[in-house]
Amino acid sequence: MARFSVYITREISEEALKLLSTTCDVTSWTGPDPVPRDELLKNIPNKDALFCLLTDKIDKEVLDKANKLKVISTMSVGYDHLDVGEIKKRNIKIGYTPNILTDATAELTIALLLATSRRLLEASEEARKGGWQAWSPFWMCGPGLGGATVGIVGFGRIGQEVAKRIKPFNTKQILYFNRSVRKEANAIGALKVDLDELLTNSDFVIVCCALTSETKGIFNDEAFRKMKKSAVFINTSRGAVVDQDALVRALTNDEIWGAGLDVMTPEPLPLDHPLFKLKNCVILPHIGSACIATRNEMALLTAGNILAALEGKKMPAELEE
Ligand code: DGY
Repeated sequence: MARFSVYITREISEEALKLLSTTCDVTSWTGPDPVPRDELLKNIPNKDALFCLLTDKIDKEVLDKANKLKVISTMSVGYDHLDVGEIKKRNIKIGYTPNILTDATAELTIALLLATSRRLLEASEEARKGGWQAWSPFWMCGPGLGGATVGIVGFGRIGQEVAKRIKPFNTKQILYFNRSVRKEANAIGALKVDLDELLTNSDFVIVCCALTSETKGIFNDEAFRKMKKSAVFINTSRGAVVDQDALVRALTNDEIWGAGLDVMTPEPLPLDHPLFKLKNCVILPHIGSACIATRNEMALLTAGNILAALEGKKMPAELEE
């Protein structure tokens, strides 16, 4: 039987590679950095399947070279790097990795929130470099979660898991903003409000929504101005939901208290970017799902999606939009 050919845009786990290799001939980009665009364009012709990452832009230019492609499987839950319209037009199936990274991302969101509000990185740095002179009543203080109103923008799987983890901190109220009412919110005790109400009333604003044409740039000057001056802004979704210049202004002019970002534009953020100079901004390198087991499962699911699609079976996680 003829073997399928698969292109993988980065080094992945042995296990996932082994799984694919049982029925497929695999070619991979093995550099530590994302596959260069010309390599991707050179390798996509005559491939039956593409295993890609969120760092790979799969647009018309790539697809026009994909003469044999039957499935694109991305090792991510986010798919804003894929031109879904162009892919569907060509009847190419899309696989992604929902659910399995929900817990890891929710956990990281809480960690980032606490690191930001309780100034963990700044405090640790002070301790190391001699800034810790003596215990001091108001030194390194920040807002606590007890009694706080927490607003979550995007109340899908990850937003809900963040809410569940936030609740035991004795928060006063959890608000959420989402296109539709989420029935799960009742059990969590979260209240649906419009975006303005969420921004005005929240002590913590946590962004968990997907990047779409509707959410692109929604955190702009106006949005930051609506927030409390004491607000902490956390983003673990996609950088482009934020107008980053507006965020720099809001942080510099004390329109909000602080921000914690796991995602930004571009990634990696250039070292001379103003956000790196701000003490009230914690920056992480997009590690929301970076738990060892989670990443292994993501790689296996991405491979599983490819195999199922190529064998004409139901894909474990097909993107149906
Ligand atoms: C995703 O999967 O979209 C996350 O941003 C990275 O795991």
